[in-house]
Amino acid sequence: MSTALIVLAAGKGTRMKSEMPKVLHPIAGAPMLIHALRAGAALEPQRIVVITGHGAEAVEAAAIDHDPDIQTARQEQQLGTAHAVAQARSALAGHEGNALILYGDTPFIQAETLERMIDARRDHDMVVLGFEAADPGRYGRLVMNGSALERIVEFKDASDQERAITFCNSGVIAADSHVLFDLIDAVGNDNASGEYYLTDIISIARERGLTATAIACDEAETLGVNSREELAAAEMLFQARARAEAFEDGVTFYAPDSVYFSFDTVIGRDALLEQNIVFGPGVTVESGAHIRAFSHLEGCHVARGAIVGPYARLRPGTELAEDVRVGNFVELKNAVLDTGAKVNHLSYIGDAHLGAASNVGAGTVTCNYDGVMKHHTEIGAHAFIGSSTMLVAPVSIGDHAMTASGSVITQDVPEGALALARSRQVNRPGLARKLFEMLKQTRDKREKGAV
Ligand code: UD1
Ligand code: MG
Repeated sequence: MSTALIVLAAGKGTRMKSEMPKVLHPIAGAPMLIHALRAGAALEPQRIVVITGHGAEAVEAAAIDHDPDIQTARQEQQLGTAHAVAQARSALAGHEGNALILYGDTPFIQAETLERMIDARRDHDMVVLGFEAADPGRYGRLVMNGSALERIVEFKDASDQERAITFCNSGVIAADSHVLFDLIDAVGNDNASGEYYLTDIISIARERGLTATAIACDEAETLGVNSREELAAAEMLFQARARAEAFEDGVTFYAPDSVYFSFDTVIGRDALLEQNIVFGPGVTVESGAHIRAFSHLEGCHVARGAIVGPYARLRPGTELAEDVRVGNFVELKNAVLDTGAKVNHLSYIGDAHLGAASNVGAGTVTCNYDGVMKHHTEIGAHAFIGSSTMLVAPVSIGDHAMTASGSVITQDVPEGALALARSRQVNRPGLARKLFEMLKQTRDKREKGAV
């Protein structure tokens, strides 16, 4: 059955004390909203509507940047969760099938949990996601009768008996799209908050003879973020989960707590991760690659058998083929290194392609930027770049070619050629000794003068 997602993201998040809308605060390098959307994407939704309000323009831009097919609808005034869902009506006009409501500030919902909800929809008109709360606090309470959900009561409106219930509402609800909007039409705001509660649709559905149930998930999945402290806690929780998943996938760590992942990091089996590594967004590390200590990687792909670091920086567009070596204090940006290429020490390689088994000596720089435009450097297979070569791009070095150390290469080097682009050395016999003497005398005179 086809599914549409409605993601509520209009709330202000006052307790974040931020100029930025709450749902745009990042966890593991992606806005919370994107985490929710990624979980929902597992259902292969036909339509996605994000309800925006506070900071609407920024939230809409982030949503569309993530997926240009996302629709957005504005909730000008935040009159409650049912009112928020009502704003999705025209975006979902003509949609046949499920509607699933998610919160943009609940980033840990698992795709598999949402799939269980959609499965449960086969036997029930309404499916609510609940959780056993360690501290039920101010959550809405799920009033069950066996497996049937009778109604949801908000904390503010609950009796003492109802407040004793520990099975709580996560806010995630699935129902047929037409049924959902019909029910929402019937929701009023005669309650302790004067808000249109989405939760009221359950009792209205039951009165109309529809069935409702609740399925349970782990409380950690429903964790919402309301303050900076909770944001930091969410980040730690994300990292702990990512490390646990990596262990499960067969990754070796020397110091797991010092390795930080992004929301989309992919690490293959038998990869070895040393201490203090940061993975920015968009990194794939294949099986058996070895990332050494204090390396920072983003937007790159590391093939099997490659060794990176210690102290390497891989920036977006970097592609390392099998058995590549990237050593200490090397920065790579938009650089493709073919099999067995080596850049081992203190180099900057940007906007470049290095052929197989090429070797770049210490302190080499691709001078890729002229102050206005970026230019490409091409290095052939088995080429040897002498230490401290400046490659002034655009420039190309042929296969099996060499550059002499300290060269400033401004012209292409043909295949097999040796390029020498530095001034010739001159030795002046005895001149160093004389110079030392002169300098010492000058120093001694100055020191006497100072006394
Ligand atoms: C809601 C539920 C409660 C549940 C809890 C789980 C209702 C009435 N209550 O309460 O049963 O236990 O979530 O966290 O639904 N939002 C809008 N527009 C609005 C109001 C809210 O977009 O007008 C968004 C918020 O940005 C947020 C979500 O909806 O992402 C939930 O709103 P919030 O105010 O946090 O609801 P709670 O009072 O926590
Ligand atoms: Mg809340």
